[in-house]
Amino acid sequence: MNSLQLYRQLTKRLEEVSDCAQFESKCLLEHFLSLSLSDIYSEKEINDDLSELYIATEKRLNNIPLQYIVGKWEFMDCEFLLNKNVLIPRPETELLCECLADKITPESVVYDLCSGTGCVAISVQKLSGAKVYAFEKYDGAYEMLLKNITLNSCAVIPVKFDICKKPDLDIEKSDFILSNPPYIRSEDIASLQKEVLNEPLTALDGGNDGYLFYRAINQNFMPLLKNGGYLAVEISENQETEVINIFSSLNHIKTIKDYNGIKRVVVFRKG
Ligand SMILES: C[S@@+](CC[C@H](N)C(=O)[O-])C[C@H]1O[C@@H](n2cnc3c(N)ncnc32)[C@H](O)[C@@H]1O
Repeated sequence: MNSLQLYRQLTKRLEEVSDCAQFESKCLLEHFLSLSLSDIYSEKEINDDLSELYIATEKRLNNIPLQYIVGKWEFMDCEFLLNKNVLIPRPETELLCECLADKITPESVVYDLCSGTGCVAISVQKLSGAKVYAFEKYDGAYEMLLKNITLNSCAVIPVKFDICKKPDLDIEKSDFILSNPPYIRSEDIASLQKEVLNEPLTALDGGNDGYLFYRAINQNFMPLLKNGGYLAVEISENQETEVINIFSSLNHIKTIKDYNGIKRVVVFRKG
């Protein structure tokens, strides 16, 4: 079999579960056989052991996301290691990293609450040079956060902490707070796409009404935001009004829509 035949065979199989089957087979061939797209089209004879590739394909056909299979993904031009303990970074979350980029300076103190892979904290630190603290509660996710800080050689400060508790930490106040918290209503979780159900529940479940973490951030972290400081949170569709209510002690500055026209990031200023 040559590379193009293998690519076509793989693509046909992945069409069962994916709308981007060509892209996914290209990623799998690149990851497992180091084949570039031009290698694939050059119809190279394949003599490699294909067992790992076939195991990976079966996993994908069982709705395991491609990102977990290859164990890494790109976000804001940086690479992040992934496993089933962390949410896969989404392209729309790049808006959260960019929305205050013109204000965050190397002198700023930034908190990223609910950090997971650290994709927000690490990207913002690299973009701005700011002092960034990354808060994450769960062991598996915290471990991935530490690995990604090392991989990206950046000075993010990891903090293992449950943001639903009042911080009695000896920590300096922040100029900026960013967060992409879990925000799906508990009862909606079961109806999510099968791939998403392979992501950690602890990264998705926003409590009975989906607002548990916004309330926690308001209650526990607003005292740690300096006057004149900014808060930006990612939200899901139709959450803007209630999130503005929750942070009613702040001034709503703007709401940013994502590429699908969905209101995705809400930005506030304290004072
Ligand atoms: C929606 S994910 C966001 C991950 C990452 N910031 C991103 O944007 O891809 C939410 C993260 O919050 C973490 N988390 C859930 N409950 C938490 C809590 N009480 N305190 C701190 N982190 C929490 C989860 O483990 C998960 O990593």
